Amino acid sequence: MEPKGKVILTGDRPTGPLHLGHYTGALASRVRLQSQYHTYVLIADLQALTDNSDRPEIVSQAVWEVLLDNLAVGLDPEQVTFVLQSGVPELAELTQLYLNLVTLARLQRNPTVKDEMREKGYGANVPAGFLCYPVSQAADITGFEADLVPVGEDQLPVVEQTREIVRRFNSIYGDTLVMPEPMTPTFGARLPGTDGSSKMGASLGNAINLSDPPEVVRGKVMKMYTDPTRKRATDPGHVEGNPVFAYLDAFDPDQDRVSDLKAAYRAGRVGDVAVKEHLAEVLLDFLEPIQGRRTEWEQRREQVREVLLSGTAQGRQVVTTTLRKALSAVGLPSAADMQAVSISEVV
Ligand code: TRP
Repeated sequence: MEPKGKVILTGDRPTGPLHLGHYTGALASRVRLQSQYHTYVLIADLQALTDNSDRPEIVSQAVWEVLLDNLAVGLDPEQVTFVLQSGVPELAELTQLYLNLVTLARLQRNPTVKDEMREKGYGANVPAGFLCYPVSQAADITGFEADLVPVGEDQLPVVEQTREIVRRFNSIYGDTLVMPEPMTPTFGARLPGTDGSSKMGASLGNAINLSDPPEVVRGKVMKMYTDPTRKRATDPGHVEGNPVFAYLDAFDPDQDRVSDLKAAYRAGRVGDVAVKEHLAEVLLDFLEPIQGRRTEWEQRREQVREVLLSGTAQGRQVVTTTLRKALSAVGLPSAADMQAVSISEVV
């Protein structure tokens, strides 16, 4: 194996079980990259709390779901370091430093945050913590000195904002922080929801979860939105914008068969029900090994806990070093550094 020179940081907000959209957007490339790069996977519980402050139990429960989902898709704790965000308080301190380098206007212009604010109907009553989550994410990314940040397309503006913070920090205080590059997945385009809307999301009620039992998957597939212009199976159907085909593009290992199905659908030779039945089989085949691994990990709860505890301890060391560098660049002595020198040297 090549030495793992470059560092990757990716993360998930624990707000519920991960779904197929997370798989195509992030998890698939995470699994592929784990042997090439030193990978940290951050379970961003503090970020999840920025829009769930009144429902903290959602976040604490989802921490384990998200960790199990990551293990289930094939991330190997021997290769990857899992870190719980709240276990690294130094990230909050870095965030505090960066907040001074960002304007309110810039935060309000972030397209990702704008979209999410609209979805959640916040208007002017947006929690300040939520508006500032890209700054906390900049602390995550720079704290681990990540070179690469594999994220779904929707998170690109957040990485761009991190890059601006790094540029500003380094130009004011001297070259200190590592400039990260975003990495978008090659697995597939953004996966639509089962209702045909452009994004799959747990809160949108249009997601198929990686941990959904087979009968739930089948039920969700059979209720999927298809082509609203099509009344009968003999009507010519539309493949573009039809989420059933978007899922087949992403998950059917036999793409020749998908091409045949598309041709038949366009010609009105195959009905929605038959295509959906095929998709259900494809998804169940895809999910079977994932759910098998999940069950194995679920039976080793103590080991799962240890994976998170030891990873968090390791991650904390890295971020602590970065924080010290950042504080010293700004000219503030960190308490830890102060203890190392006598008071006469400081004052
Ligand atoms: N904001 C990311 C999401 O909603 C999660 C996240 C938190 C993250 N910290 C990160 C992603 C650091 C990449 C790097 O999916």
